[in-house]
Amino acid sequence: MINDDHPVPLLSVRGITKSFAGVHALRGVDLTVRAGEVHCVLGQNGAGKSTLIKTLSGVHQPDSGEIRWAGEPTAITDPVAALTLGIATMYQELDVVDGLTIAENIFLGHEKATGGVLHVAESNRVASELLTRLGHGSISPSTEVSRLSAANKQIVSMARALSHDIRLIIMDEPSAVLDSEEVKNLFRVVRELTAQGIAVVYISHRLEEIRQIGDRITVIKDGRSMAGGLNVAETSTPELIKLMTGRDLANVFPAAGAVSTDAAVVIDVDSLGLRGQFSDVSFTVRAGEIVGLAGLVGSGRSEILETIYGARKPTSGRVSVGGRALRPGSVRAAVDAGIGFSPEERKSQGLILDEPIFKNVTLSSFARFARFGILQERRERAVAAEQIDALELRPADPDRSTRTLSGGNQQKILLARWLVHGTRVLLLDEPTRGVDVGARAEIYALIRRLSAVGTAIIVVSSEIEEVLGLADRVLVIGEGAVLATSPATDIDEHAVLDLVMKGTAA
Ligand SMILES: Nc1ncnc2c1ncn2[C@@H]1O[C@H](COP(=O)(O)OP(=O)(O)OP(=O)(O)O)[C@@H](O)[C@H]1O
Ligand SMILES: [Mg+2]
Repeated sequence: MINDDHPVPLLSVRGITKSFAGVHALRGVDLTVRAGEVHCVLGQNGAGKSTLIKTLSGVHQPDSGEIRWAGEPTAITDPVAALTLGIATMYQELDVVDGLTIAENIFLGHEKATGGVLHVAESNRVASELLTRLGHGSISPSTEVSRLSAANKQIVSMARALSHDIRLIIMDEPSAVLDSEEVKNLFRVVRELTAQGIAVVYISHRLEEIRQIGDRITVIKDGRSMAGGLNVAETSTPELIKLMTGRDLANVFPAAGAVSTDAAVVIDVDSLGLRGQFSDVSFTVRAGEIVGLAGLVGSGRSEILETIYGARKPTSGRVSVGGRALRPGSVRAAVDAGIGFSPEERKSQGLILDEPIFKNVTLSSFARFARFGILQERRERAVAAEQIDALELRPADPDRSTRTLSGGNQQKILLARWLVHGTRVLLLDEPTRGVDVGARAEIYALIRRLSAVGTAIIVVSSEIEEVLGLADRVLVIGEGAVLATSPATDIDEHAVLDLVMKGTAA
């Protein structure tokens, strides 16, 4: 419920700038948020969205510009000051603490205690109420957070935000780790909040989500706001893409190439099973073919990829590449056979954040860059620079530390790594998580190009549209079993969801 009559907006930001050691992350951003609205912030990877919200949550101090809160010029000096004003933030990189319980995470920094005595039962009770409100009442608040999926960690992050008395909640790409059912649940909560007059700043690269939940949009490009407070209903998707990228983008998905049925089978997954996770998964992928696995979070999709890669040891079945069975549970055997893997959680599984970009790009190809056992950094840099160009990675500097890159740019590094390495089979788990529309189209085209030269590709995505748009053939996965196999052109989003729901209910 937007309060349009109220003359003073809840939050008004004017001309905010912020630089980091020569990088101009924000060059002049305006943002006006009204009570009770969902205000979406859109922009390409590296545009400055996360930096903007960190100036509102007290993590960064702006170099210049003005922030008004309920009409009053306000300095948000640190995260506690933000919470005191009533601004809570769910960060893009989940910041829950693994070693603590859900309840401890929720009340971290504002523990329920008197005279130094912690009220554990009381914390658990309130935490439980919050989880129930978020549609997850079945999770025990005393569960240690390390045991939760990324989606459930997101729920904890939201519960923590709601444990404060808030007037504005900022969500930085909350849906990136959620599947379509979880997103519905998130939107239900968002609507409850706005009905109480709480404002939501919502960041997402998925334009269809913004259509569903957003009231107004501010577009940021290269650290500047391009358009402020556009009405969602009055702005077309091509217009938004143009504002974000400065160019027109007709088709996000490239046309599928016709895969010859004579093409050799590259990888054969035969009755693969992992006790308690999935069973009897069989399929083959031919040279030049893209097979997509569609299903909800927790359906076993990622575990299937990890088992094919040898990171988990199957309890039944086998994987063969080029007709030769691989030693089960051996990453070495998989890599030697030509399997590459871009994992779902790039932070923990794929990137060495303190190394420069070029090191991460060449990580799997050391042998190629070594002479007499010595790495030739000049050649590594040159190869990385080519990839930076091809993928439009920003900043275009091979020596930049990977840690400070925006999420989408980190994802591109993982793909660049396998491009440089060259693989017969490429396993991609959520290849465009957190990637903006422009870069997405580039990544899709790149995946297509890889298949055109004969790479067999298996892709997992929680965005059904992505699986259908990218794959030649789709396997629908539910509760650890293959529910259906279909050419991508013969199945639509509804049919996939139908199968998944029935499969799950059974
Ligand atoms: N601590 C930092 N040190 C140096 N540069 C930084 C730092 N934080 C952000 N940057 C740079 O500021 C720019 C904006 O980054 P930001 O994370 O705000 O982008 P974003 O719009 O959130 O992108 P994404 O959609 O990929 O999350 C990028 O060029 C990034 O590399
Ligand atoms: Mg960001």
